[in-house]
Amino acid sequence: MSESTGPEGRRFPAPQQLAAAANVGPDVYAEADRDRLAFWETQARRLSWAQEWDEVLDWSKPPFAKWFVGGKLNVAYNCLDRHVEAGHGDQVAYHWEGEPGDTRTLTYAQLTEDVCRAANALLELGVQAGDRVAIYMPMIPETVVAMLACARIGAVHMVVFGGFSADALASRLDDAGAVLVITADGGYRRGAPSALKPAVDDAVGRSPGVRNVLVVKRTEQDVEWTEGRDLWWHDVVDRQSPRHTPEAFDAEHPLYIMYTSGTTAKPKGILHTSGGYLTQVAFTHWATFDLKPDTDVYWTAADVGWVTGHSYIVYGPLANRATSVMYEGTPETPHRGRWFELIQKYGVTILYTAPTVIRTVMKWGEDIPAGFDLTSLRLLGSVGEPINPEAWLWYHQNIGGGRCPIMDTWWQTETGAHMITPLPGVTDLVPGSAQHPFPGISAKVVDDEGNELGDDSTGLLVLTEPWPSMLRTIWGDDDRYVDTYWSRFGTNVYFAGDGAKKDADGNIWLLGRVDDVMNVSGHRISTTEVESSLVGHPTVAEAAVVGASDPTTGQGIVAFVILRGSAEDSGEDLVQTLRNHVARDIGPIAKPRQIMVVQELPKTRSGKIMRRLLRDVAENRELGDVTTLTDSSVMNLIKEKLPASS
Ligand code: WTA
Repeated sequence: MSESTGPEGRRFPAPQQLAAAANVGPDVYAEADRDRLAFWETQARRLSWAQEWDEVLDWSKPPFAKWFVGGKLNVAYNCLDRHVEAGHGDQVAYHWEGEPGDTRTLTYAQLTEDVCRAANALLELGVQAGDRVAIYMPMIPETVVAMLACARIGAVHMVVFGGFSADALASRLDDAGAVLVITADGGYRRGAPSALKPAVDDAVGRSPGVRNVLVVKRTEQDVEWTEGRDLWWHDVVDRQSPRHTPEAFDAEHPLYIMYTSGTTAKPKGILHTSGGYLTQVAFTHWATFDLKPDTDVYWTAADVGWVTGHSYIVYGPLANRATSVMYEGTPETPHRGRWFELIQKYGVTILYTAPTVIRTVMKWGEDIPAGFDLTSLRLLGSVGEPINPEAWLWYHQNIGGGRCPIMDTWWQTETGAHMITPLPGVTDLVPGSAQHPFPGISAKVVDDEGNELGDDSTGLLVLTEPWPSMLRTIWGDDDRYVDTYWSRFGTNVYFAGDGAKKDADGNIWLLGRVDDVMNVSGHRISTTEVESSLVGHPTVAEAAVVGASDPTTGQGIVAFVILRGSAEDSGEDLVQTLRNHVARDIGPIAKPRQIMVVQELPKTRSGKIMRRLLRDVAENRELGDVTTLTDSSVMNLIKEKLPASS
């Protein structure tokens, strides 16, 4: 791809070779605009329905939507059996690789049989349609099998990320009213087996509704056992019949609950349902990634324990009959080239990951990816936070060899699937911007009163029409659903909680959560904008910026930076240089009050920087809840760096 410079910075024209054979062309936008509901109806026909719907959308009681009203389907059948019936049983669904290097290959036929066995096992344990089943697992094939087995019998799965604490698990078991927990003895992380069962024992001890715990043997470590409650997966599942006739469920039958943190301490159980969800994840996966089921090797390098894993490791890829890679462990185990080794080994053609990983590899240096053959890659994706232009360009050059377009996909646990993204072969790419609403999606940038803003302005991101994979409610709390998302601008407008800017060409730039937008002397400054400026300096690998309360300016900008390996100097001079760099880059108003050089930043397991904790540090407060951090010792390291007075 050749590069050209426009008024907003660099642009990369859509690669023509890809465009010639792309799954969707430029006319897809016009088609969706002509008749949005007819467009989604067409996409729903990509699935196999046991019964057609009577109505595409019932929006008579906003914000409670019903999509494909009256339609019936089985989600697992759509992900598995229908591909086997069409003669693709021998196609690989997953090339799975454990962190220690053990591998398993699952074809569509094998996966279908495994899911049928697990479905029969769940039925034997008395699980019924509508029951909630918690899945607290490492990244192993049984995790996917368990999710699909639930879907197959109409049970509602609730995957809790394996790194979460017993407390987090217990509160979710309680909130969802789970009857069964599926877990493992442990999984491999950073070169060692880590345990899962002790947290389950602790959490289930406090959850009287849980009748059984089904345990997969993965690491062979010793586990405590509660007779009558605990069962080995291999004892119960392996002896079941590999046949099971799927029942068709209503399009609005609940598929899963995924907990996500909100502004209060109590996590929100985001509820997704069946027909609309599967329609949009399947279509976006096919269109955004130009997925060619016969030739692509697709890899979402994320954890199944968050929504990206649900939509783009499990449901989207399987609905599209993709061949995927699934990897259990961390990118640096046993060496920092592990991911690139996997791309080379499996000939990965499409890689989807998060900016934080890209910046981490950037910090390690380009020699690491350069040591592997990455020429199989043809398309890259990014998700989870804004990707700053420097990281975009680095990803493009050092992973994508300058030839792979990058799809910067904006979406949320709540939206279920991609909402704002470029399309491959269609969109000329602008590094750092997620660019355009996906066809059939209505996204706008509005001011505080909800008035739509024109190009070249900054405001709040809203979604003005319901979409098929939207959340249906917060589990057990319809009021909170309405209050959180649909009250700021009325019950027809979804408030995403993200700041956004439209540039002069109509591209949408996401500016981070609105609670991450700082107010310095009455000026709105995005933490992301300052971070992006800092990482644009050659000495900085990663940066996190928070607004700390300031008696004169309202908020003052405090930055935490990790230097690149080559930049040793962390003295006053460098700090001054960086402050001036930001002032020059964005304007004097954005000059950080304070910059602290640190070794690590506190991150959640899904890779988001926990600015809340950094704000506590910057404002010299007791640290808040650190249970969702990947490594809670990071905060001690950061506090040690602080001057005693601050
Ligand atoms: C942020 C992850 C900018 C955003 C799928 C959103 C992004 C939140 C992007 C949802 C992106 C996600 N550009 N920001 N491409 N993707 N975000 O629920 O703030 O874990 O509201 O879903 O991540 O995070 P969640």
